[in-house]
Amino acid sequence: MKFFVDTANLAQIKEAADLGVLDGVTTNPSLMAKEGIKGEEAVRQHYLNICKLVDGPVSAEVISTDFEGMIKEGEALAALHPNIVVKVPMIEDGVKALRYFSDKGIKTNCTLVFSAGQAILAAKAGATYVSPFIGRIDDINWSGVELIEQIVHIYQNFAFRTQVLAASIRNPLHIVQCAELGADVVTCPLSAMKGMLKHPLTDIGLQKFLADHAKNNG
Ligand code: E4P
Repeated sequence: MKFFVDTANLAQIKEAADLGVLDGVTTNPSLMAKEGIKGEEAVRQHYLNICKLVDGPVSAEVISTDFEGMIKEGEALAALHPNIVVKVPMIEDGVKALRYFSDKGIKTNCTLVFSAGQAILAAKAGATYVSPFIGRIDDINWSGVELIEQIVHIYQNFAFRTQVLAASIRNPLHIVQCAELGADVVTCPLSAMKGMLKHPLTDIGLQKFLADHAKNNG
């Protein structure tokens, strides 16, 4: 399973990369806004800065919602760096754009996926990744993890090549559940990734080892 970090914050991306377990990055317009990145040139430069920090796929989302606009934006984003993956929303023109990019060999991430039907369409249109938003589904009292299970099962039935990228991860348990279900990728906040480190017995055990070593060595 690959680990992507879901942020546009360069310090957090560097921290995740320094851990040695990072495979890629996902961003979205809200995450870019949170970092105050605005204007075409600043946006382009920011993606290039991210690509310098991680040697793996970096999802950059289009803002247009019409086919021509998405193609224009997506081609410009893809031309920035070979690791850029064009993130396209699951809407009618988005599906057409996925097919266009796929035929051109441009990698895509189909975002805002909340149902198995949408995931089937994304795979049929040749998306490289499909992003089901599990935390947002949990937020409305359904099970995001069940959707991951359903999509993984359907993709296996037909050997679809689209990778399941579990998004909107809220905690370490989400990551473990997605791993159990065979999601290809999780994209998560740094806090959820680092949350997996923690176990009280590790801390207690380490304290005891160090205390015994100190006692034994005067
Ligand atoms: C996915 O690529 C999105 O950027 C992201 O995971 C959304 O997560 P959120 O629901 O925490 O905003």
